[in-house]
Amino acid sequence: MNRAEAWDLVCEWTSSDALRRHMLGVEAAMRWYARKFGEDVEAWGVAGLLHDFDYERYPHAPDHPLKGAEVLRAKGCPEPIVRAILGHAAWGGVPRDTPMARTLFAVDELVGFLFACSYVQPSKRIADVKPASVKKKFKDKGFARAVSREDIQNGIAELGINAEEHIANVIAALTDAAPALGLAGSPAETSPAGAASGKAAGTPSAGPQRIAMWSGPRNISTALMRSFENRTDCAVCDEPFYAWYLKRTGVPHPMAGEVIAAGETDPRKVIEFITGPVPGDKAVFFQKHMAHHLLPDLGDGWIPDLTHAFLIRDPREVLLSLDEKFSRPRIEDTGYPQQLAIFEAEQRRTGRTPPVIDSRDVLENPQGVLGRLCDALGLAFEEQMLSWPPGRRPTDGIWARHWYNRVEETTGFEPPRPPRTDPLPPHLEALHARCRECYDVLHAQRLRA
Ligand SMILES: [Fe+2]
Ligand SMILES: [Fe+2]
Repeated sequence: MNRAEAWDLVCEWTSSDALRRHMLGVEAAMRWYARKFGEDVEAWGVAGLLHDFDYERYPHAPDHPLKGAEVLRAKGCPEPIVRAILGHAAWGGVPRDTPMARTLFAVDELVGFLFACSYVQPSKRIADVKPASVKKKFKDKGFARAVSREDIQNGIAELGINAEEHIANVIAALTDAAPALGLAGSPAETSPAGAASGKAAGTPSAGPQRIAMWSGPRNISTALMRSFENRTDCAVCDEPFYAWYLKRTGVPHPMAGEVIAAGETDPRKVIEFITGPVPGDKAVFFQKHMAHHLLPDLGDGWIPDLTHAFLIRDPREVLLSLDEKFSRPRIEDTGYPQQLAIFEAEQRRTGRTPPVIDSRDVLENPQGVLGRLCDALGLAFEEQMLSWPPGRRPTDGIWARHWYNRVEETTGFEPPRPPRTDPLPPHLEALHARCRECYDVLHAQRLRA
């Protein structure tokens, strides 16, 4: 069972945002420890992600996790994962006899406790939670009283680790995954309740969330930018690296001269802009980026300042469309290898799977897929994301008059057109195969409604 299948199962069985975040938090901690111990990061992550998937339907012992374990076995989930999940409950009937099982037990309750510690921070940021203050809070019986201190202590003893070090490790794991867990401190994500309502009245606003949405060409990236711009809390920017990219590569795009003249061509200034103060002091900064603009000279020091997400589209559709615009598109014009490279680097850096959405899924079910995307980004979904006023925007790139005629007429996501059936011209076949290799990896891990 891979990560995408595990997450589908979690979503099918669990509607509670708080419970999903708990499982995502335990997944992040498991992945962190798997890397530290040199174990199988994917398997450990799946164990963490699935450990409570049956809890909403079967909240009572011994049904949870025994009922869930039956389902997992029927689905062919590897036995060590099932046993680790059974081992996290005293009545599971399975000893914690593997490092995976001991680690799952040692992080589970602690993750719950650290979420609670994060919510009472003025900043609401997990990164601001200190191990010493966590230890102090263990003694406060009234605080997060549902969390078993005894289980946490037993877990630490079984793992044979220093308590403070263990707490620091789990804080580090949750910090890496903070935006998706709602622990990064923006006002909309101060708690599961705050995230669900989109309001966190009276909570001080902490840092904004900057979302880099990496797309390829001939996708619905501009419509998605419209959708985010229509939120109450969001500023957007349109391909901020484009002018620099054109100048740097000299590729003959339509309007290249004008784009270069009007845009910022100093990459350091572009990076300052996308990581700096958000226009209008908004809580969310949605940045539409083309993956092929990310040339190696940009370095990656700024990457951790953004939350990365991916918009993909079937390469057959993209290439047929791109072929009409460019003569002989090259692999580096498609954005596919770049998208996959950014995705995998983010996976390594954060230990989590960054959100991926497919444009066809968005067009088929905008509310469902955008809802999932917002969940993954720790944002509240807003109805306004589904429709917007027609016309051009001051935030559109100056290339709008060449490229955006279609999107300027739209006021929402339109149902997808049937897939194209015209044959792929022979000169696109090899290119198509290379793009599809990248696309398939991302597609398998996409968020679905
Ligand atoms: Fe549990
Ligand atoms: Fe749990």
